Amino acid sequence: MKVEQGQSALLTGGGGGIGRALAVALAGRGVRLTILDLNIAHGEETVRLVEEEHAKISYKPIDSPSAIFIRCDVANSDELAAAYARHHDVFGRLHICINNAGVFSTNAFYEDKSWRKMIDVNLTAVIESTSNAIQAMKGQGGLILNIASSAAFMPIDLFAVYCSSKAGVAMFTRSLAHLGMGIRVNAICPEFVNTPLLVALPPLLKDYIEENVGYVEMEKVVTAAFSALDDESMTGECLWVSTHRPTQIWPDEETKRKQQAVTKDGTPFAGL
Ligand SMILES: NC(=O)c1ccc[n+]([C@@H]2O[C@H](COP(=O)([O-])OP(=O)(O)OC[C@H]3O[C@@H](n4cnc5c(N)ncnc54)[C@H](O)[C@@H]3O)[C@@H](O)[C@H]2O)c1
Repeated sequence: MKVEQGQSALLTGGGGGIGRALAVALAGRGVRLTILDLNIAHGEETVRLVEEEHAKISYKPIDSPSAIFIRCDVANSDELAAAYARHHDVFGRLHICINNAGVFSTNAFYEDKSWRKMIDVNLTAVIESTSNAIQAMKGQGGLILNIASSAAFMPIDLFAVYCSSKAGVAMFTRSLAHLGMGIRVNAICPEFVNTPLLVALPPLLKDYIEENVGYVEMEKVVTAAFSALDDESMTGECLWVSTHRPTQIWPDEETKRKQQAVTKDGTPFAGL
């Protein structure tokens, strides 16, 4: 399966930043959307932008709205399950799931317990949402895209828990390469993108990033997302979306081989 007009998608954290950009881009391809977010005003604005995009391409969904907003804390499994049920009631089927909601903090994890929220939202909720999506898609197939981060591949002391949460998402995605059921699961892993998420950066670090590292253009993030969604041969892969380098599958084949355990006779352990 790849993205086609008339499909429907459920997208978490669609109230701003990367999620909103993906929602608008999907709408440009004639996809109908359920937008989940904590922020009602922001989520409703994304619904309006989706409707506007559908009008631009003269797409009028029959028997369903262009998009709906559901206020949902993705870390609450009951709210998440209810959102999936509502999506089914409104759109009848789920073709695409985008697990994008995320939080970021640089608080020292040994000073307080606020780090738990990063694991709950960035990792546990992605697993929970993927589980809901598979239940909705099995028998019909579908596309699941997780928004991880290049932090999944780079240890950064100030971001230890954020890096761990995203590394979890990347490995969860890779581990689903052979899920089958016509469901493809992939992830994109962008470097810094200039969104409200980064208000949590200490000002000195933000200045350093702006002067020396730079941001990934949103268009490059969206292009990477669509290459994962549209490439029917891609499954269980992470796409590293860099500011200065071309987007690439990471780990590459050579690194994957090096990361594999070997059996007694030295051949790669291919899993069970
Ligand atoms: N901005 C970056 O530099 C960057 C880089 C790589 C990956 N990412 C990832 O991309 C994703 C989107 O981030 P962004 O940069 O667009 O940030 P953002 O803060 O602009 O958007 C995140 C959205 O998620 C929503 N959200 C947060 N917690 C939620 C919850 N519990 N339930 C439902 N919605 C919730 C927020 O309200 C917000 O609308 C995140 O997973 C983030 O970790 C961001």
